[in-house]
Amino acid sequence: MCFFGRKKTRHIAPAHTVVPEHIAIILDGNGRWAKKRGLPRTAGHAAGAETFRRIGTYCRDIGVKYLTAYAFSTENWRRSKDEVDAIWSLLYDYLRETLERMETERVKMKILGSREGMPERVRSLLEEIDRKAETIDGITLCLCINYGSRDEITHAVREICEECAAGTLEAKDVDADTVASHLYSAGIPDPDLVIRPSGEKRLSNFLMWQSAYSELYFCDTLWPDFKPEDIDLAVEEYSRRDRRYGGVKS
Ligand code: FPP
Repeated sequence: MCFFGRKKTRHIAPAHTVVPEHIAIILDGNGRWAKKRGLPRTAGHAAGAETFRRIGTYCRDIGVKYLTAYAFSTENWRRSKDEVDAIWSLLYDYLRETLERMETERVKMKILGSREGMPERVRSLLEEIDRKAETIDGITLCLCINYGSRDEITHAVREICEECAAGTLEAKDVDADTVASHLYSAGIPDPDLVIRPSGEKRLSNFLMWQSAYSELYFCDTLWPDFKPEDIDLAVEEYSRRDRRYGGVKS
């Protein structure tokens, strides 16, 4: 079996296609997917986790170097205890499986988010994953759990203030690179393409600093129904975008 799931179905290869180095995805629509089938919301999350395995494999196979997924936000704690517990249980299983396969599948796993408040067994698993990730060179898979951009930026500002107070950093030297280097995503390039399925058109506190110049792609497919073909469509549209970063077209 392949690390992320089943083998790819096809590769995009037209000459004009530009595969983004970094794709970030908001996994959305699991609840609606389950409701449409008369299933509990947790069944939607389980299906969503399966879809992520398949899409992860596909992204790796088409040459994506960084794949980031928004799986649990700092606001998702507001859901029922049963749903929150079910999501953490899926995440735990996924992380454990990943840890076992990181080496053979050459996947470098990074976790973005606050570890405070996470279930203890997840926290200790993350420590093992961090240690293992240092030895691996391959696709970087970032899982955003207990993640929110406002929390991430606040955390970075607090660290910077502490360094200034300790005299190891001067306020006049703080610039955008300083901030970026204090984010959970330090060292990871900004996403080129942010995908949000399920028809919602907002960022919902996801990579707000990092996506300043990302291309955004929205589609109506509910996440559990998302297929490699949906990645192809997003990448094909991305290839047609004109990225100017505030400059003018040459
Ligand atoms: C958003 O859909 C989804 C979540 C908040 C949870 C995502 C979690 C998983 C896919 C399971 C674990 C993930 C991995 C990668 C193992 P929603 O519930 O808000 O859907 P709705 O808007 O239709 O209600």
